[in-house]
Amino acid sequence: MKRIGLLTSGGDAPGMNAAIRAVVRTAIYYGMEVFGVERGYAGLIEGQLIPMEMRSVSNIVQCGGTRLRSARCMEMLTKEGQEKAVETIKKNGIEGLVVIGGDGSFRGAKILSEQYGIPTIGIPGTIDNDLEYTDYTLGFDTAVNTCLDIINKLRDTMTSHERVSVVEVMGRHCGDIALYSGIASGAEIIVVPEIEFSIEDIVERIKRSRANGKHSNIILIAEGVMSAEKFATKLQELTSYDVRPTCIGHVQRGGSPSMADRMLAAQFGNRAVRLLKDGIGNRVVGIRDNKIIDMDIIEAVSMKKTFDRELYETLQMISM
Ligand code: F6P
Repeated sequence: MKRIGLLTSGGDAPGMNAAIRAVVRTAIYYGMEVFGVERGYAGLIEGQLIPMEMRSVSNIVQCGGTRLRSARCMEMLTKEGQEKAVETIKKNGIEGLVVIGGDGSFRGAKILSEQYGIPTIGIPGTIDNDLEYTDYTLGFDTAVNTCLDIINKLRDTMTSHERVSVVEVMGRHCGDIALYSGIASGAEIIVVPEIEFSIEDIVERIKRSRANGKHSNIILIAEGVMSAEKFATKLQELTSYDVRPTCIGHVQRGGSPSMADRMLAAQFGNRAVRLLKDGIGNRVVGIRDNKIIDMDIIEAVSMKKTFDRELYETLQMISM
């Protein structure tokens, strides 16, 4: 393989730039040319390609966002859009493609592989950590660290005023950001889509913690359940403690990637290009049990994400 394409798609995630760098540098190491596709699949459909050199990726390892920019592209779900994307690939002599993105982006990659025979490798780039085949997705660690920073600050003011803080985090239908941020920040309660909750039980837990000498409470709610504002209103009706909602929002998608995400980016990017160099496509890369892995893209996208109940129980036991 002599020329490959590279795009970032869907919601951006910290570490995407570090992955772009790893892909470009590994490809150049093997004597391959790289074309960066701007604006994800939208740019592929419209033919927005830029040649990438060694120096195109200088000084980006530490930057959040994605230099190639990203888009959520509905046209890629249509036959017409897919055919235009394939035309760009063929016209520019691109023999393989690296797609950095989440679940939706992988579905596009699967179509290009399966239906059009374009060797494609997926790199899991999303803060949501909602892909079952990999223990971690790129950007999750940084997003959780951003949440921790904000939750620490909220704890200061909530304790001063003896309040209950309801904090909404992202994750789409997945509760991992809430789970990990909850354990690592010492939040008393997490509310996630994967586990049913009772607001009365939550009120009881707050009461018990106050009886045990706590001066504030942090409740993390995953966006897939409901908004912090709605939950705080419901809770306020049932308790005399002062409740305040905070939605962290898109802040958790930005910022310089953590060491963990930079390490993943380097290894994912490197493995993706090595697969293409060996003529292997239709795979996704990931990490399992601390080892970089790759697996069939069709199998990977068909796996249903499971929730770590043991971690959830750990939080229940230690966050009182
Ligand atoms: O997939 C990443 C994510 O940030 C989700 O957690 C969230 O639900 C969604 O994207 C928000 O999308 P947008 O930035 O398009 O509003």
